Formats: sequence, C-alpha cells, structure tokens
Amino acid sequence: MKSQPSPAPETASSPAGIHKEEEEEEEEDVMSEIHIGCPSKFTGPFISHFSFSLPHDVDYLGSKYEYQVLDDSQQRQEVSLDDDGDLAVPRRNKRSENKFVVAIQHNITSSIPKVGLQVWRAALVLSDFVLHKMFTSTEFDGIVALELGAGTGLVGMLLARVAKTVFLTDHGVEILENCASNVHLNSALIPSKASVYVRELDWKAPWPPQQSNYPSGHSYVWNLSELEELERASLLVAADVIYSDDLTDALFTTLERLMSRGLNKVLYLALEKRYNFSVDDLDVVANGYSRFRSYVRDENEHDKIPNGSSRAFIGTRMDLTKIPQYANEYIRGQDVELWQIKYAREEENL
Ligand SMILES: C[S@@+](CC[C@H](N)C(=O)[O-])C[C@H]1O[C@@H](n2cnc3c(N)ncnc32)[C@H](O)[C@@H]1O
Repeated sequence: MKSQPSPAPETASSPAGIHKEEEEEEEEDVMSEIHIGCPSKFTGPFISHFSFSLPHDVDYLGSKYEYQVLDDSQQRQEVSLDDDGDLAVPRRNKRSENKFVVAIQHNITSSIPKVGLQVWRAALVLSDFVLHKMFTSTEFDGIVALELGAGTGLVGMLLARVAKTVFLTDHGVEILENCASNVHLNSALIPSKASVYVRELDWKAPWPPQQSNYPSGHSYVWNLSELEELERASLLVAADVIYSDDLTDALFTTLERLMSRGLNKVLYLALEKRYNFSVDDLDVVANGYSRFRSYVRDENEHDKIPNGSSRAFIGTRMDLTKIPQYANEYIRGQDVELWQIKYAREEENL
C-alpha cells in the first residue's frame, strides 16, 4: 500500500482548497491525501484496506481485541504506482505482523459538500488516539458514543469494538449511504453486542433532529429511544470538521445542545490546520482555526474568558507524540491537532 499522495487529477485542487466560499462549492473538486493503493487518476468510489498494527503486549486473541489478523499469505495485494508510473508490487515481510484491516469505501476526489465521501488525515490521527485508549484503558468500554461528521465512519467503527452503542452521524443521503455500506463491509469487525446506528445529524437543522424527507427504505432518522440513548452518551468524536467558519458556528451550536444536557460528555476533536492566503489580512492565516479557537478556552494557557463572552468549551490540546501511530500508510505530519474539549455547564462556568 502506498502512503504518498498521488498526483492530483486535473480537476482536483490541493487539500488546502477545502476552504472555499459557498458559491464555489458546486464547481471545484478537492482531494484528500489519503487514497492508498488506488491507481492515479482514479476518482472512485474505491475500497481501500486500512491496516492497523497491534501493540505487541496486547493479547488480542481470545480477548476484546480479537481483530482480523492477516498473515503473509492473506495480505492484500494493492495496486499502486511508483514515482515513474510503474506498477509497485508490495514487498512481503518475512514475519507475520499483528495487524487488522478495515475496508473503507471512499471517493478519491469530491466536491466540497461531499467531502464526507473521502477519508481525511485527521480521521487517522483520531483513529490512533481511539485505539490507544482502547489498548491502554477501559475508559471506552461499554459506553454510548457519537461521531459527528463521521464521513466514511472509520473512527466510529473502531470505537464499536468496545462501546455499547455508537451513533455515526453526518448529513446528506449519499454520505450516510456510503457510511452504512462501510458498516456492512466491516460487520465482522463489529461485535454482535454492539449497536451501530448511521443517523442524520445536520448541524444546521433545528433541534432535536426531525424525521427528514428521505425516500422510504432509508433509515437514517432518529427514533425516540435513540434520542434518549443519545442523552446517555459520554463520548463525542469528530475528525476534520473545522474548515469553514459558518460550519464551525453550526457545529458548536450542535455541540452546545449535545453537551449541555444529559450525561457529562467529553469531545475529542482532530483538526487539520489549513492555511490560506487572505486578501482581507494580506497574509497567510488559518481562518477556520481562528474561528474554532474563538469557541474554545485553552485550559493550559489559562485563557481568560473575554468580557461579555461565555466560552463554555474548555479545551486541552493533546500531545500527539505520546500517541503511537497504529494506522499504517499515512504520514501524520505536524499540522493535525487533537483537542479534548469539555463543556462547563452554567453553574460551573466561572
Ligand atoms: C472533511 S470531512 C471529514 C470526514 C471524516 N470525519 C474524516 O475525517 O475522514 C467533513 C465532514 O463534515 C460533514 N458535514 C459538513 N457539513 C455538515 C453539517 N451541516 N452537518 C453534519 N455534518 C456535516 C461532511 O459531510 C463530512 O463528512
């Protein structure tokens, strides 16, 4: 499998192009760096096999970590091209490695409203974090969890190994259908006692989520008992959902609704800090990031709440060097951040 970004098809912009104005959204395609093993100029949908290494001290056989383990003879042959455009045949290791594989159907490029059909680097960083918690603690065992902007559903499916219930949520029928296909593709990975629901949660829609106008046969709408179970969620996760100011506003409105009620919830949010040239600032700025930070008070920087503002979200930026890379075939880089975010309810918000 290949971890290097392939050359962009002529119609695709660089990943930085994800920050676009609304009116351009329909016209231009964007491409994530994560498109392992697919032939160049292939636009998808494509099924990639993401492999995750297991730590040597994890007794995965017969335990809760009983994942699908590939030996040499089972390793999948991925088609990839080297820098000269020749077919690169993957080398086989002499010894079997302890690893498991998640099959993800995803697109190679998409328009901005359909970026959820692609896999983004922040999802792999968040996957590493979730796996690390699962390998080193029991914190996520038996919990109710919700992923926002789940896209292909990778992170939530990993969580379903130990959680009691996972809600994979996103917006738009094509993205939800693709996510549901991935749950189906990986059904062997998800223990039968875990409940995994693919549900529509549009941050811009009124609360609580209502029955939407999907054709019959689509089941992405919530029922009352699921909404009650959502109140009992203790964990929220989200990867690469910070890239447009209006979406960030909508996301934090949804987070406030979720985190100000029911059981106390903690959010782990992985984001890619994207820099764009701003004509207004005549400088290169991380616009989406600034908007994100306007909502989150950094606990470690003893950030003061500005007068008149009630920044109830309290964040801690996590040290990624302490989180091993279990997901193979990607380069983590320096521009992805992982935040732990809590919500101080009114009585706690000093
Ligand atoms: C860059 S993608 C990230 C997808 C996935 N988490 C990943 O990292 O691979 C952003 C996600 O946010 C979702 N999204 C955008 N607007 C949304 C909205 N109004 N409500 C819910 N989800 C939304 C997109 O559909 C998409 O899945």
